[in-house]
Amino acid sequence: MSTSPTTGTAPPAPRLAFGIDIGGSGIKGAPVDLVAGEFAAERVRIPTPQPSTPEAVARTVGELLDAFALPAGMPVGVTFPAVIQHGVARSAANVDESWIGTDVTAVIREATGREALAVNDADAAGYAETVYGAARDARGVVLVVTLGTGIGSCLVVDGTLVPNTELGHLEIDGHDAESRAADSARERDDLDWEQWAERLQRYFRVVEDLFWPDLIVVGGGVSKKHAHFLPLLDLRTPIVPATLRNAAGIVGAAALAARGTVLD
Ligand code: BGC
Repeated sequence: MSTSPTTGTAPPAPRLAFGIDIGGSGIKGAPVDLVAGEFAAERVRIPTPQPSTPEAVARTVGELLDAFALPAGMPVGVTFPAVIQHGVARSAANVDESWIGTDVTAVIREATGREALAVNDADAAGYAETVYGAARDARGVVLVVTLGTGIGSCLVVDGTLVPNTELGHLEIDGHDAESRAADSARERDDLDWEQWAERLQRYFRVVEDLFWPDLIVVGGGVSKKHAHFLPLLDLRTPIVPATLRNAAGIVGAAALAARGTVLD
């Protein structure tokens, strides 16, 4: 961290930052109290435009920011459900193909006049869990896995985020893992909790054999129903539900934006 030339002390960390979660059906944002790790005002949600091209989504991000009277310099973080390498989208598993190669930071700057930090959705949510949520007291290797339309993953090693692990796309038994074990696969195949847990068991066993994490945190909307499936899993790694629920993406994006970097 840089020090101030006049006082020799570190500049105060911002208390507030703004987080935006870009999802397939909604674009949601709120100012975040970075000390408490929670929303500082009520969240606003705008439906994701269809088709969800970069320009259309960036315009909606602008609309969302206009709904709040934000000071000019407030850090803004934006999550996106794809590989985000240094601000550029590199994949498009569940979003419009036109995102591949798009500099997310640049399209948001053009549409809103603001600088924003862009980060993978699971990385943002997972980071929030390690700072404020289920893994806040954990040391060592923490893996946060979000179960939703896809499977997202976030690897944090002693507080350092290793971005874009994309463990939803591991090939397991000849399948893209998320096509079998995501929550959308449970719904699509009309699985009961036991049937879905069998698929999760296979998935998490492969993941724990690859990474030997100290803790696995399970997020995504279905994590609030964890009592139906987490007790059915037989793993060597402790596995717990996320605690920030659907606030995690927004809180994590805001926290990373305040830090100014995904990689530290
Ligand atoms: C995408 C990831 C994303 C995850 C959860 C996957 O299909 O490849 O980038 O984090 O879905 O949204």
